[in-house]
Amino acid sequence: MESVLVTGGAGYIGSHTCVALLEAGYEVAVLDSLANSSAAAVDAVAEIAGRRPRLDVVDCRDESAMEKVITEVRPDGVLHFAGLKSVPDSVADPLRYYRHNLESAAVLLSVMERCGVGKIVFSSSATVYGDPDVLPVPETASTRPGNPYGSTKLMVEQMIADVVSADSRWSAALLRYFNPVGAHPSGLIGEDPEGVPGNLMPYLLQVAVGRRPRLPLYGTDYPTPDGTARRDYIHVMDLADGHLAALEHLDSAPGQVQAYNLGTGQGTSVLEVVAAMRDASGHPLPYEELGRRPGDVPELWADPGKAHRELGWSATRTLAEMCRDAWDWQSSHPQGYRSRGLP
Ligand code: NAD
Ligand code: UD1
Repeated sequence: MESVLVTGGAGYIGSHTCVALLEAGYEVAVLDSLANSSAAAVDAVAEIAGRRPRLDVVDCRDESAMEKVITEVRPDGVLHFAGLKSVPDSVADPLRYYRHNLESAAVLLSVMERCGVGKIVFSSSATVYGDPDVLPVPETASTRPGNPYGSTKLMVEQMIADVVSADSRWSAALLRYFNPVGAHPSGLIGEDPEGVPGNLMPYLLQVAVGRRPRLPLYGTDYPTPDGTARRDYIHVMDLADGHLAALEHLDSAPGQVQAYNLGTGQGTSVLEVVAAMRDASGHPLPYEELGRRPGDVPELWADPGKAHRELGWSATRTLAEMCRDAWDWQSSHPQGYRSRGLP
């Protein structure tokens, strides 16, 4: 495979994956509506990799624009990151999430089919497991997402599986990410959420950089050693490497669709993340103990064995590296990409 189209390639995970793809020698075309990102991320990707990916500002739901781009780019495969990703927004406005995420995938797959492109790597999520019966959670565990966002992930997984089973020239990898954090070690790209961050790491970074006074700590009465919930935090560059491994595997897997957990296999508590970020940033990081956040599960971490066996991939970066790289990004870009001089 030589040429890839990356939908959502200006976003957090997509931009980091573009760097890894460019550095591995792929021709990369980014397709993004910029609904939740900035073209400055693509500029920074070009700066790191020394090569500029093509950028088309297009919404995946715009079928004729999609067809024009795919016809011009003629990619060997597609990485599909584009989509809406907020759990609370999906609970408040489920139809927006169903329409957006399902329509984007259906249009993309239709255009790929018409253009004879049959390899896809899809950004799924560990949220498809809900509250798991077994830890670490394997891909064979039952799926029961507890929110509309997670349901859209599972439905798109099914949509892709049905397309592959109808035409054995297709092949697909469904990557179930655990908790992606960190940034490229250059400090030039990173996570840049709009408004109040909903996730732990970006919130902590904004406390460390002085944008917010303290972390709201949700739940100290979980049945865990320190009472706070445990998750599987994975460095975003390990995740990027997982996409390269999945893409390479697709070449030798015609007719197959497989789900893979991308996680470290380690559970880390909220207080352990706070302590690691304190070490990385040198900031005291005050927090306020609050009740549990509705919808949170006590513990969730991956069994990443299948990705190791079949893709030859494992996460290698430590929690200290995740915090160090995230802090380098945030401290050099306190206002995110706006710190690069954009309006
Ligand atoms: P992000 O919002 O930073 O990136 C998504 C990108 O897609 C953005 O650049 C946005 O502008 C673009 N986009 C959204 N809708 C679009 C559309 N209809 N057409 C074209 N572009 C569109 O999010 P991210 O954190 O990089 O996540 C990437 C993918 O991974 C998403 O599908 C998300 O659901 C999934 N995921 C993310 C996490 C996480 O913790 N960040 C965890 C599991 C799964
Ligand atoms: C959430 C989403 C999940 C998504 C993931 C992306 C829910 C239920 N799940 O996962 O679908 O894939 O984000 O990374 O929203 N915490 C605090 N204070 C904060 C923020 C978080 O204490 O300000 C705690 C949470 O209660 C949780 C842990 O930190 O225990 C991790 O939270 P978060 O980063 O939001 O990730 P998840 O909830 O695991």
